[in-house]
Amino acid sequence: MKIVIMSFLLLSTLFGAAKVVHVDEKFQRSQSCKACHMRIVQEWEHSWHSKSHYKHDEYFRKSLDYVARKTRKSINSVKVQCATCHNPRISVTSTGEDYEMDALMGLDKGSKIDKAVNDDSISEGINCVVCHHIDKIHNEYDASKRGINRVEWTKSGGTL
Ligand code: HEC
Ligand code: HEC
Ligand code: HEC
Repeated sequence: MKIVIMSFLLLSTLFGAAKVVHVDEKFQRSQSCKACHMRIVQEWEHSWHSKSHYKHDEYFRKSLDYVARKTRKSINSVKVQCATCHNPRISVTSTGEDYEMDALMGLDKGSKIDKAVNDDSISEGINCVVCHHIDKIHNEYDASKRGINRVEWTKSGGTL
């Protein structure tokens, strides 16, 4: 049941929010949550969510390569396509004909799309900040505000 609810929340977040929300570098890595949420981070590390990336799952990598071959698209275009669900924090959401031409001729290195698919910020797959949209933690608040009351969430996210 938990999985069903989580998948539903995740998908509705993804399709509800077409715009990509920038994640502060501090919160991009699940390691930064480990000091306090050790058990949850360890559980996540062993989950399939943590493997949802071209580099971390051989089956995903091979399926993606296969789709690219079959549809005669560049690997990066298919990566962007699969990223809608598998790496939803990616900073580009589509590729066009122009990009396909560049990719075919090997002229796309350093392009916006090439940078986006190889960006570190998406390398952890479905990590903590994909679901928990933390924007800022206000250390400057006085001691009367503690814990979750110091957290500011990004606009598209609720306080999951
Ligand atoms: C310095 C310790 C610390 C770090 C680091 C930390 N948290 Fe927390 N977090 C807490 C504490 C303590 C609470 C509970 C606060 C409360 O109930 O007011 C909390 C609450 C939360 C909640 C809300 C839980 C609820 O019951 O509603 C979420 C979600 C959360 N943290 C996610 C994260 C994520 C994601 C990260 C990493 C980016 C992170 N936290 C890093 C200490 C930390
Ligand atoms: C609409 C959302 C969505 C899109 C788009 C999507 N996936 Fe998935 N994919 C999922 C979900 C959700 C799962 C987990 C399903 C499960 O475990 O029951 C999954 C699981 C997988 C798995 C299994 C992971 C494993 O190693 O067991 C592979 C492989 C995969 N997807 C490949 C792809 C490829 C390749 C693309 C792009 C061509 C893609 N997916 C696009 C949602 C999506
Ligand atoms: C796929 C979406 C998803 C991911 C990824 C995710 N969470 Fe959550 N998390 C949720 C949902 C939904 C809840 C509330 C439902 C529940 O408690 O089962 C929750 C609950 C929590 C809570 C409060 C409840 C508790 O058990 O203490 C904390 C703290 C938390 N998550 C931290 C994290 C951290 C840290 C990570 C990264 C390692 C993470 N979450 C990854 C969706 C997610």
